[in-house]
Amino acid sequence: MKKVIAVLMACLPALVFAAGGNNEHVVSANIDLTDKASLKRGAQAFMDNCSGCHSLQYQRYQRIADDLEMTEEEVSNLILSDVKVGEQIKSAMSSDNGATWFGAPPPDLTLEARLKSPDWIYSYLKSFYVDESRPFGVNNLVFPAVGMPHVLEGLQGTPVLQEDGTIVASGGQMNAEEYDQYVLDITNFLTYTGEPVKLERERIGKWVLAFLAFFFVIAFFLKKEYWRDVH
Ligand code: HEC
Repeated sequence: MKKVIAVLMACLPALVFAAGGNNEHVVSANIDLTDKASLKRGAQAFMDNCSGCHSLQYQRYQRIADDLEMTEEEVSNLILSDVKVGEQIKSAMSSDNGATWFGAPPPDLTLEARLKSPDWIYSYLKSFYVDESRPFGVNNLVFPAVGMPHVLEGLQGTPVLQEDGTIVASGGQMNAEEYDQYVLDITNFLTYTGEPVKLERERIGKWVLAFLAFFFVIAFFLKKEYWRDVH
């Protein structure tokens, strides 16, 4: 038992790191990969707001449509005009242009949730604030001196950093709860694209557990049956 505890203690730093990233402004996102409605909204929000600059080059439209059980209409809303459903999600911008315009090229986001953690993405999208000293007039608490403009400002409103360190936005199309839900949906979707088999694994996992429970009952009665003759 002592050994087990020692091993668990040794893993603790890794767990802490994996859970929150290394920035004090990272908060918990509470993503839910079983929430298909949220994943669908996130996919649409990503296409509407992010795909102009960021690609998801390891993910295909078809796969998203299948995994999220989208209707034909939902799929056609998702796809930009001249792209086929079997293609990967590319961005409209070349990496060179991105580097020139923003100081750094917008990275591919397929694996971002595994690289940085879902909590990190969620917090990042909530942490833009007005800072006139920056080229785009905004800075970010989670990613200081970031090169990305605050593309969701129209929805969130103008985010002003308060003296107590919180950010309060006003004048946007959404209130604070709606905005939180919106960026949660995007985060949920990006977590799914990082590991699409997770959805499948959870579904299969339930069946495996059900089978084990069933098998336990059979094994129990089998044992009873065998030992009856012995006693
Ligand atoms: C106008 C172009 C543009 C749009 C639109 C855009 N981004 Fe970005 N994004 C960037 C650039 C440029 C960077 C790199 C910033 C840097 O390294 O300083 C970046 C960085 C990021 C990062 C951090 C990547 C890393 O690990 O370094 C995340 C996460 C991200 N963007 C998410 C999003 C999401 C989600 C959306 C849609 C809501 C979005 N971006 C829309 C340009 C854009």
